[in-house]
Amino acid sequence: MTTYSRITGTGSYLPPRRVTNADLAAELAARGVETSDQWIVERTGIRARHFAAPDVTASDLAAHASRQALEAAGVAAKDIDLIIVATSTPDMVFPSAACILQAKLGIAGCPAFDVQAVCSGFVYALTIADSMIKTGAASKALVIGAEVFSRILDFNDRTTCVLFGDGAGAVVLEASDTPGILSSDLHADGKHVGMLCVPGTVSGGKVLGDPLLKMDGQAVFKLAVGVLEDAARAALAKAGKTDADIDWLIPHQANIRIMTSTAKKLKLPMEKVVVTVDQHGNTSAASIPLALDSAVRSGKIRKGDTLMLEGVGGGFTWGAVLLDF
Ligand code: UT7
Repeated sequence: MTTYSRITGTGSYLPPRRVTNADLAAELAARGVETSDQWIVERTGIRARHFAAPDVTASDLAAHASRQALEAAGVAAKDIDLIIVATSTPDMVFPSAACILQAKLGIAGCPAFDVQAVCSGFVYALTIADSMIKTGAASKALVIGAEVFSRILDFNDRTTCVLFGDGAGAVVLEASDTPGILSSDLHADGKHVGMLCVPGTVSGGKVLGDPLLKMDGQAVFKLAVGVLEDAARAALAKAGKTDADIDWLIPHQANIRIMTSTAKKLKLPMEKVVVTVDQHGNTSAASIPLALDSAVRSGKIRKGDTLMLEGVGGGFTWGAVLLDF
């Protein structure tokens, strides 16, 4: 009997348009919005992000990342029996980006659905896929984080528009006799809805309310640092492991200062932290699988390494997944 799920392939995709801080500062200056490369680097660690072309959707980015992950796993698309896309920027109100992706991959029949947990979306989706594999409901899952956050940014608000980017990351998660995913720890606290949200909605053929991202950055920062430590410790305890067992920490890539303080609390040197926020910005649900794939492809992460994946974001949601790669 299968008792575990294991990542057998990773993939990612960034849209080709790379926008440096200097590029963005120049674009914003034309609108009368003042920022600088120095401010963005010092406060966030971000140096560049990628923005998708206007006609490119989250499922397009997801399809590129999925094909790479399938190839890395040596799995044919037709053998996938579960698709979960973590996204807050789906192509349409419905159907899900996962169903649209399924058609783009040329397959049909397997369950496909989106998970909406904002920047924690990938750890939520991975936990759901792991649970479905453990119950026998699936054996080869595609789990993807895909976002086009550029669509929901207010380019007149310098406190948020400099932070986010577009991209997608994917993994193939397969049933296995050996671990694999060791433990996970997920949480939400809906009383913080207003701290990070896109309050608008569609009703009666119109957009009601503001469809652009709002964030109380300092409040998010404080909350993030505390809950990320708690989730990591809970995931370690569930697996009977300690800080010292972590080979690589792959936190949500929002701000280098949050990542540094999380690493410090977990007594991990920064050499053990995968950092891509400098090149990707915050890609919400895509940030963890993008960072994972870049570290796998650069040879940093090797088979057998123990990884701690951690997400935190709107909802408020947060969580961690501990796994042997
Ligand atoms: O993905 C979900 C998770 N999200 C996060 O983790 C985000 C968490 N929060 C953060 O990363 C940080 O709070 C920010 C990067 C958003 C902001 O950094 P901060 O160090 O908390 O800056 P602040 O909000 O305290 O602002 C400091 C100053 C303000 O000016 P005054 O009031 O001191 O004169 C801002 O108006 O920096 C100003 N400022 C800017 N200046 C230049 C804010 N944004 C900018 C900007 N360029 N883009």
